[in-house]
Amino acid sequence: MATLPGHAAQIRLRMDAGWRFHLASTGTLDQKIVVENWTWAPAATSAIDGLPKQGWQPATLGRDVFHGRGFAWYRATLPSLTGTGRTVHFDGVDDNAVVYLNGRRIGSHQGYSDPFDIALDSAWNPSGPNYLLVLVENIDGPGCINNHVVLGVDRPMTLGGDPARPGYNDSHWRLVHLPHDYVVEEPVNPEGNNAHANRIPRTAWYRKTFTAPSAWRGKSVWIDFDGIYRDAKVTLNGRLLGEHRSGYTGFRYDISKFVRYGAKNVLAVFVDPTHFEGWWYEGGGIYRHVWLNVADPVHIAPWDTFISTRSVDGSTATLAVNTRLTNAGSLSTRGYLLSRALSPDGTLAAQTRSPFAIPAGSTLDIAQTLRVDNARLWSLENPRLYRLHTDVAVTRGRIVDAVDTPFGIRTIRFDAARGFFLNGKPVKIKGTCNHQDFAGVGIGVPDGLEYWRVRKLKAMGSNAWRMSHNPPTSELLDACDHLGMLVMDENRHLGFAEGAKTPPGTQNAHALSKGLSDLDSMILRDRNHPSIILWSLCNEEPLQGSDEGARIFSAMKTEVRRLDRTRLITSAMNGGFGNGISNVEDIQGFNYNPDAYDPFHRARPAQPCFASETASTVTTRGIYASSRSKGYATAYDINEGISINTAESAWKPIADRPYMAGAFVWTGFDYRGEPAPYGWPAVSSNFGIMDICGFPKDNYYFYLAAWGNRPIVHLLPHWNWHGKEGRAIDVWAYSNAPRVEILLNGRSLGVRSMPASGHVSWAVPYAPGTLLARAFDGTGKTLATDIVQTTGTPAALRLQAERHDIVADGEDVLPLAVSIVDTRGRVVPTASSMVTFTVTGQAEITGVGNGDPSDHSPDKTNRRRAFNGRCLALVGASTKTGRIVVTARSPGLRPATFVLRSVADHIAEVQ
Ligand code: GAL
Repeated sequence: MATLPGHAAQIRLRMDAGWRFHLASTGTLDQKIVVENWTWAPAATSAIDGLPKQGWQPATLGRDVFHGRGFAWYRATLPSLTGTGRTVHFDGVDDNAVVYLNGRRIGSHQGYSDPFDIALDSAWNPSGPNYLLVLVENIDGPGCINNHVVLGVDRPMTLGGDPARPGYNDSHWRLVHLPHDYVVEEPVNPEGNNAHANRIPRTAWYRKTFTAPSAWRGKSVWIDFDGIYRDAKVTLNGRLLGEHRSGYTGFRYDISKFVRYGAKNVLAVFVDPTHFEGWWYEGGGIYRHVWLNVADPVHIAPWDTFISTRSVDGSTATLAVNTRLTNAGSLSTRGYLLSRALSPDGTLAAQTRSPFAIPAGSTLDIAQTLRVDNARLWSLENPRLYRLHTDVAVTRGRIVDAVDTPFGIRTIRFDAARGFFLNGKPVKIKGTCNHQDFAGVGIGVPDGLEYWRVRKLKAMGSNAWRMSHNPPTSELLDACDHLGMLVMDENRHLGFAEGAKTPPGTQNAHALSKGLSDLDSMILRDRNHPSIILWSLCNEEPLQGSDEGARIFSAMKTEVRRLDRTRLITSAMNGGFGNGISNVEDIQGFNYNPDAYDPFHRARPAQPCFASETASTVTTRGIYASSRSKGYATAYDINEGISINTAESAWKPIADRPYMAGAFVWTGFDYRGEPAPYGWPAVSSNFGIMDICGFPKDNYYFYLAAWGNRPIVHLLPHWNWHGKEGRAIDVWAYSNAPRVEILLNGRSLGVRSMPASGHVSWAVPYAPGTLLARAFDGTGKTLATDIVQTTGTPAALRLQAERHDIVADGEDVLPLAVSIVDTRGRVVPTASSMVTFTVTGQAEITGVGNGDPSDHSPDKTNRRRAFNGRCLALVGASTKTGRIVVTARSPGLRPATFVLRSVADHIAEVQ
């Protein structure tokens, strides 16, 4: 879409290259002061306006005050503290905490045992006093604030001046390319928060110098940050543009009045990820794209077109097109808006034209209808995308602005008895929940990797992705649109948290500069994606079953309806079913609790239902005995009291109930943090069906059998049990065929009938050799086979990738899978060789991983130990095209090479 100034189309330039980066604090607390003199009082409600006036008693931290479920307030007056970066550190609050300073909510934490920090500066009263209030929710067992609460100051780095000032010399700062997560570069620290992967987040600065050509004078110029984790403060040429709190929503500043035209400009961004929003690894930095947009003062801003399918009748679709036009100029303007739908092959499918008259400094909403004949519907098998091309024409038909918006034509419907329908056909939702994180990159996931992850999940038979628990990058939604993956998009918190704060004097005609709630921002940005079928407004909120929760949810729902009426609105509840939010949401989402499905459905047969979260099955790839000391969970799908449900026991109730529209399994991929079941030394989760590198665990094949559409059989465990000769090994097979037989070294060990959504097993006395599984249909015809063999010792390395090219945009990566193989090319399932990568040509290793949840070695390096036979390297593109050769070496093993090319990029960058 980018063209030269003077042309009609908006200029949209990527601003990801050439950022200078520097840490701003050391990550250690100075002036540590223990907070004393706590009092507590029981809480009748969880609202701050319900703060009790009387009944406060002295509190001893670490002592239960609840004797059951409920809420309680704790309060203390804080001593004075000099310097910025004031932080309060909790060793833990049992179970959940909401923290207020001087009556202002400054943070929250869920989970009973982890330490966490809350930044205080935003509500600190420099002249004192400072009142700290903590609302503690107890769900089970004893409840209280555990142990110490410590106050301190995050120790700043010496920066030699103020980096916000344009003249600041940043030449010694590190040059980085976005997307960038710098917290993933931090070492694993035993003192760090285990739920957040033991990386201690610090504050940091980014600076970027760019030139605004003189030709942009008189235009509307704005800058879009797709996402910064978090508490970002943005200045341009030393002037504060604004602050944005949420790490999960994008924001925009109109900089037309502040930019220096024909000259150099300096953007400086301060990032503070020390205050968490969730209970998983959340990273830190400018981890999504930044864009610079230049348009005529009369224009359509990003997010201001909305195309939805009103109906599909035979092969004719009726589309509603809603466009918001902005006139940021000083003259009233007349003209017409021309909307053209272009079909997937680029031909004109329909068009309509509407005259307008728009006063200066205002916005105008224009509603249009388009009728598309021979509509080619968006589906999971054929995710066809149309494009809306919108021209803004003024006097004598001169086109001053033009934008393109991709969209899909499809109908969606939830039936309370029969589940979900796409284009009139029933589709069982076979989904996974996922966080943003990935091996080697943390939360700074390049676009190509988002597509790669969607393809991995589709290959498993999955057809849906729950964006837990926050809106994702736009590019992940694009990937779901392009590849055919349904989406439940999710807002971070119950309520109307406002992500943005803009200082007085920098506001202008551009509505989005004024600060949107995080909820509005999600709906406006995402509503054109055909993949999105549900809006989830929150996850497991403490207020979910209460009237107060229902009131807040209703208000949010009204707001969503104002912006989009085409999707049902839900939440992910893990209790309180039938109360609170259940009474006001369109469709009931169950997190876990399969026993609650039937009673709920019987009581409310007209309310559709689905499982917003299931399973939480913990397994470690290639591990067949759990180990608390190593932080590993067995890969057999058995519940040793450490998973919420097994994969089987979670899916079966969904598969068996037509009224359950489907489920989202926790999770598709492992992610950093939340290292259940054992915690340290594990620093990454074990919930994934695939590990953090995308290598399948055995549960992958359970889902492939249950969700996929081709016959398969899979055997586990591996067959390298030297020293266990003659001892019984528990052998499992997953299959979607009716019967399975296994043979050890050619001798049959019997045929078993395969239960639906289950597995079969044999106790097999170990003898080295070949274990073969054959899956049959009813007539005895073989439908699929699988083999596991006792391998030799490691002899060589093997490299495999999905493709042989990367885009030379400075950010694309190619995941290169490494296997340690024996002399016959078989993966050695226990190998842990150290692998070192070297690259010749225009690329480098962006990061590495191996799927071991307890591996503390750095991701940002060129070597990694294999974990159970495998590890991963991400080959990262530079901005130059050419041939690239990656070599992997390991002492004593035959090296492997992989040849690829980097190819030209088509997205223009700011210079
Ligand atoms: C759920 C929660 C997820 C994750 C999961 C782990 O209750 O929604 O975010 O924490 O538990 O089992």
